[in-house]
Amino acid sequence: MGCVKIVFFMLYTFLCQLALSSSSPHLCPKDQALSLLQFKNMFTINPDASDYCDSSHPRTLFWNKSTDCCSWDGVHCDKMTGQVIELDLHCSHLQGKFHSNSSLFQLSNLKRLDFSYNDFTGSPISPKFVSHLSKLYVLRIGDLNELSLGPYNFELLLKNLTQLRELHLESVNISSTIPSNFSSHLTTLQLSGTELHGILPERFFHLTDLESLDLSFNPQLTVRFPTTKWNSSASLIKLYLYNVNFTGTLPESFSYLTALHKLDMGYTNLSGPIPKPLWNLTSIEILYLDYNHLEGPISHSTIFEKLKRLSLRNNNLDGGLEFLSFNTQLEWIDLSSNSLTGPNPSNVSGLQNLEWLYLSSNNLNGSIPSWIFSLPSLIELDLSNNTFSGKIQDFKSKTLSVVSLRQNQLEGPIPNSLLNQSLFYLVLSHNNISGHISSSICNLKKMILLDLGSNNLEGTIPQCVGEMKENLWSLDLSNNRLSGTINTTFSIGNSLRVISLHGNKLTGKVPRSLINCKYLTLLDLGNNQLNDTFPNWLGNLSQLKILNLRSNKLHGPIKSSGNTNLFTRLQILDLSSNGFSGNLPESILGNLQAMKKIDESTRTPEYISDIYYNYLTTITTKGQDYDSVRIFTSNMIINLSKNRFEGRIPSTIGDLVGLRTLNLSHNVLEGHIPASFQNLSVLESLDLSSNKISGAIPQQLASLTFLEVLNLSHNHLVGCIPKGKQFDSFGNSSYQGNDGLRGFPLSKHCGGDDQVTTPAELDQEEEEEDSPMISWQGVLVGYGCGLVIGLSVIYIMWSTQYPAWFSRMDLKLEHMITTRMKKHKKRY
Ligand SMILES: *[C@@H]1O[C@H](CO)[C@@H](O)[C@H](O)[C@H]1NC(C)=O
Ligand SMILES: *[C@@H]1O[C@H](CO)[C@@H](O)[C@H](O)[C@H]1NC(C)=O
Ligand SMILES: *[C@@H]1O[C@H](CO)[C@@H](O)[C@H](O)[C@H]1NC(C)=O
Ligand SMILES: *[C@@H]1O[C@H](CO)[C@@H](O)[C@H](O)[C@H]1NC(C)=O
Ligand SMILES: *[C@@H]1O[C@H](CO)[C@@H](O)[C@H](O)[C@H]1NC(C)=O
Ligand SMILES: *[C@@H]1O[C@H](CO)[C@@H](O)[C@H](O)[C@H]1NC(C)=O
Ligand SMILES: *[C@@H]1O[C@H](CO)[C@@H](O)[C@H](O)[C@H]1NC(C)=O
Ligand SMILES: *[C@@H]1O[C@H](CO)[C@@H](O)[C@H](O)[C@H]1NC(C)=O
Ligand SMILES: *[C@@H]1O[C@H](CO)[C@@H](O)[C@H](O)[C@H]1NC(C)=O
Ligand SMILES: *[C@@H]1O[C@H](CO)[C@@H](O)[C@H](O)[C@H]1NC(C)=O
Ligand SMILES: *[C@@H]1O[C@H](CO)[C@@H](O)[C@H](O)[C@H]1NC(C)=O
Ligand SMILES: *[C@@H]1O[C@H](CO)[C@@H](O)[C@H](O)[C@H]1NC(C)=O
Repeated sequence: MGCVKIVFFMLYTFLCQLALSSSSPHLCPKDQALSLLQFKNMFTINPDASDYCDSSHPRTLFWNKSTDCCSWDGVHCDKMTGQVIELDLHCSHLQGKFHSNSSLFQLSNLKRLDFSYNDFTGSPISPKFVSHLSKLYVLRIGDLNELSLGPYNFELLLKNLTQLRELHLESVNISSTIPSNFSSHLTTLQLSGTELHGILPERFFHLTDLESLDLSFNPQLTVRFPTTKWNSSASLIKLYLYNVNFTGTLPESFSYLTALHKLDMGYTNLSGPIPKPLWNLTSIEILYLDYNHLEGPISHSTIFEKLKRLSLRNNNLDGGLEFLSFNTQLEWIDLSSNSLTGPNPSNVSGLQNLEWLYLSSNNLNGSIPSWIFSLPSLIELDLSNNTFSGKIQDFKSKTLSVVSLRQNQLEGPIPNSLLNQSLFYLVLSHNNISGHISSSICNLKKMILLDLGSNNLEGTIPQCVGEMKENLWSLDLSNNRLSGTINTTFSIGNSLRVISLHGNKLTGKVPRSLINCKYLTLLDLGNNQLNDTFPNWLGNLSQLKILNLRSNKLHGPIKSSGNTNLFTRLQILDLSSNGFSGNLPESILGNLQAMKKIDESTRTPEYISDIYYNYLTTITTKGQDYDSVRIFTSNMIINLSKNRFEGRIPSTIGDLVGLRTLNLSHNVLEGHIPASFQNLSVLESLDLSSNKISGAIPQQLASLTFLEVLNLSHNHLVGCIPKGKQFDSFGNSSYQGNDGLRGFPLSKHCGGDDQVTTPAELDQEEEEEDSPMISWQGVLVGYGCGLVIGLSVIYIMWSTQYPAWFSRMDLKLEHMITTRMKKHKKRY
């Protein structure tokens, strides 16, 4: 039976091929099929290679000899000659390197070639591209991987592809000037982020067919516009010049760009009022002039009547928002970080389509204007960091997803209408909002980030909070007046990363159900009245990095459980101001694997954060408290001060070489300072004051060159204070209350030459303090504005497990990501 089937099948395919080859004489030529197959075999298929794509699939997967290559996915042949003329392999999961011998170059009739969004990392693009594929009309190689072209090839490419219409080399490292010898047929040139330098040849603006020119993210490329009417005026639709080198003003000739739909002149050092020639752009739909120095009011212009998206973020514009009354098409407005003031127009009635409104960091005051609450289509609203006052009204929009009203002077309760089902990001922190937290908050099934911190909320935490849908990542109710026990059960399978209930009046125990928060990274229950023993079991939360239980009524000895896998990721442990007793928890300290290495991986410090939230906690370092600060990944702190710990200081603390701050003060510790502390080579702050520590200060501590603050006062130390380096900079107060200590800076001499601190050294010291590990500016800049932009887009990306690269985000990266993301997803 089976045999018959096979024979029949073979016969069938044979006949089919016969039939096909006779009926359609222009099958894909054999040599071209072979070339394509050879090309296919040079690459592996890896979905990660196309992870920037909205949709992607492995087009080459089913290419095989038994079918006509003209029918292969992504391959198109000329109907008459059967030659392969188009190859579209964008977002095709290809990973590997191009070789200069690539068989692809035999497809000399190719007119269209699209390789964008695959992973060809490290492949130099061969000159053969140019010489063999000289009939190309369209070439797309752009992607976000590391691909380089090099100056020589770029010049060759432009010179030799004389038929070229479209060139997309986005994010390819070209690192060259732009030659002026190129195809006069060009319609589309996409060269953003290609490290171009030199001066853009004026000829581009005179290409009569040019429709789209994107040279963004080429800060070294100098752009000057022709002062007379451009030959491309009637054809140019898109002009993207974000972050190119442009100095000067927009010439009158800009007025003739009547076809222009999209203009991006962000980050191009524009100054003065919004340039006049722009008012003539009657077709403009998208206008980005963000990150410039524009000033003055935004005039009442009816001219941009087609405008849908407007970003003037980060300029110095002032005046009010009256101009909004005249424009009804707007969908997206970003006026954040300007100096806009009230009063605001009260009768804006249009804006039926407005979905995104960002007005953060201006000087807007008074009540939030009622037209904002009335916007029917609003999705994202950011009014943070203004001085709006009064109550939050009912929102008309049923599609609100992202709301940040952070840092205003709003008062009154949270309106129930705000808690609609599409909401997933709600930040109301740093206002005077009062009342109870309604349990209807628990019904928000999409909620990811809920930040109600620093308000006047009172009553208990709704019992249902721990059972909110598993989307919830961050729960911040810190610095309110919440009382009662934490009477909620955190459900199994939750996604919580951050729980901060810091600074309330919570009583009772640390809820045992926290053990269900498998992803918990930050737990801050500090400054409450919790009465419990040490929750050793929290050590099983393998992601926990920050544990802050300071200033509670926690008590008793901290027992060893014998399990050495507890708290392995912890980098901040603050148990200060409690009633803990017994020996220092040597076994727990011994488990802190994260602190046993020095984080030297990156030169620019990174914060602990996720895409929605920069992790904040209260820390004490160098003798100072810092409230709600961002935390660098390299910042490692142990604070066990103000308890009743007794016994000796375990020398194994010396293994925690990543420690920056160690505070064991105000306990009843005795014995010596372990010499092993000399291994704490990045230690910046050491406080052992007010204990019963005896013996001499180990001379080896002089090797701690980062030590800025030392407090050994009020102990029983004796002998000579170490000399040299940092030790020359500590004053009397570091040592007072130790009757047996001698040497600089104390008046009792030690014998030998006491070194004198020179002013030069002091200067150096001060300089070092200018780069503290925790910088207030950093704290303020990073949180609040900036993050909210396009969050609904991030949400979609996140919820589809989209970009792995979102897990890390420092300021620079954040900028890069938001700009790139805007560029790809939203900016245009
Ligand atoms: C060849 O491609 C055809 C069509 O896509 C597919 O059905 C067939 O299974 C493939 N054969 C091999 C050997 O991969
Ligand atoms: C091209 O060269 C590489 C190494 O340079 C080699 O591995 C590969 O087999 C060659 N491919 C063809 C099609 O000749
Ligand atoms: C340009 O293309 C022509 C025609 O395909 C080719 O003969 C020539 O070698 C190419 N020039 C360079 C410099 O590659
Ligand atoms: C781009 O290429 C140039 C020259 O080849 C090189 O100096 C530069 O570092 C490259 N840039 C990046 C970001 O790789
Ligand atoms: C541009 O290139 C073409 C073909 O290579 C050549 O004939 C012409 O002279 C060049 N023009 C300039 C201005 O370099
Ligand atoms: C930017 O352009 C100005 C002149 O317009 C020039 O002086 C400056 O060197 C250019 N900067 C860079 C980085 O190319
Ligand atoms: C602009 O177009 C006109 C008419 O086609 C032509 O004469 C002129 O040379 C062009 N200007 C430039 C700078 O290419
Ligand atoms: C631009 O607009 C101004 C004022 O409306 C007008 O006087 C001027 O002629 C316009 N320029 C062009 C080139 O259309
Ligand atoms: C920006 O423009 C101002 C003048 O408006 C100029 O002084 C400054 O050098 C420019 N900055 C850059 C980076 O080009
Ligand atoms: C708040 O706005 C002011 C200007 O109004 C700005 O200087 C400050 O940096 C902003 N703060 C934050 C956190 O964005
Ligand atoms: C916790 O909440 C439940 C249900 O609301 C209630 O019955 C119980 O008394 C509460 N327990 C405490 C200690 O408040
Ligand atoms: C903690 O609770 C226990 C009993 O539940 C009580 O005896 C003790 O006084 C409480 N401690 C503090 C500091 O309130």
